[in-house]
Amino acid sequence: ANDECQSCHQPQTRDWKQSDHASSMALANKDTVLGDFNNVTTTHFSQKAVFYKEKDAFLIDLTEQGTKKTYTVSYVFGFDPLQQYLIEVEKGKYQVFPFAWDSRAKALGGQRWYANYANEDVKPNDRLHWLQPLQNWNGMCADCHSDNLKRNYNTEKESFDTHFSNINVGCKSCHNNITDEHKTKKIIKAAQTSPTNMSQWKIIGDDKIATWQGEPRDNSFMQGCY
Ligand code: HEC
Ligand code: HEC
Ligand code: HEC
Repeated sequence: ANDECQSCHQPQTRDWKQSDHASSMALANKDTVLGDFNNVTTTHFSQKAVFYKEKDAFLIDLTEQGTKKTYTVSYVFGFDPLQQYLIEVEKGKYQVFPFAWDSRAKALGGQRWYANYANEDVKPNDRLHWLQPLQNWNGMCADCHSDNLKRNYNTEKESFDTHFSNINVGCKSCHNNITDEHKTKKIIKAAQTSPTNMSQWKIIGDDKIATWQGEPRDNSFMQGCY
């Protein structure tokens, strides 16, 4: 996790904490949830959602096809210009809630709940329905929003045991191959040593964005189904 880097790289850690990468995913709590959970009701065709709080929990009563179910928000996803909410529907299996929070300023049309599919009544058998695989965090979202993901789908038990080493996009998403030897280096304020040969994202010359240098990255996890 990022703790391994913090002791020597405080300025970078401070900057990173301000960055969008630090907010790609977080546990739902009063500091991270942006949406209005003060007994607010939103409807969209055949779906009705009531957002409310109980003690420290953020709850949603969702009525679909005339059936009401109560869900607890486990995680928040993103923060600007919108935030989405993850629900644990079975142990270890998280789905993306069908309403998102527009976190822009009120003057810009924000500060409101809205349905992810604005013009459709998404029924349970629809591929876009929030309980379907396309809206599954383990399979569709987690790879990019957290570090070092292990999806761990068990085909026999049909269950997930997904792990990440860091909940958000931390240092190692971009600087991997940090060796144990590296972590014994001493920060020498004046003399910035020349970059070592570790693989990492680098901004070359006048490039606007960084490109990956060094050993090719194994992106096979992005290619397959789970
Ligand atoms: C014990 C101290 C220490 C720890 C812990 C440490 N680093 Fe470093 N790191 C250094 C030093 C020293 C340099 C050389 C640059 C300098 O002198 O400021 C450096 C340089 C870097 C550089 C610049 C490229 C290069 O190789 O010079 C990156 C990127 C970096 N570290 C990332 C990380 C990450 C990510 C972690 C955590 C996984 C980490 N470091 C942990 C001491 C440390
Ligand atoms: C291929 C990588 C990738 C996947 C997969 C991915 N995201 Fe993202 N996501 C990003 C990046 C990069 C950003 C920030 C850039 C941006 O704002 O467009 C982002 C930003 C966001 C944001 C913040 C708002 C915003 O637009 O910036 C939300 C919310 C979000 N993603 C939700 C999801 C959900 C839900 C899933 C799965 C259904 C998902 N993402 C899958 C890469 C990904
Ligand atoms: C989204 C990708 C990304 C993340 C996340 C990230 N970095 Fe970097 N980091 C970079 C890029 C790109 C550079 C510039 C590399 C270059 O141009 O040589 C850089 C440069 C550095 C340097 C070299 C000195 C400097 O400031 O330019 C250090 C040290 C460093 N990062 C540490 C960290 C630490 C510690 C974290 C986590 C708290 C972190 N980085 C998170 C992409 C990232």
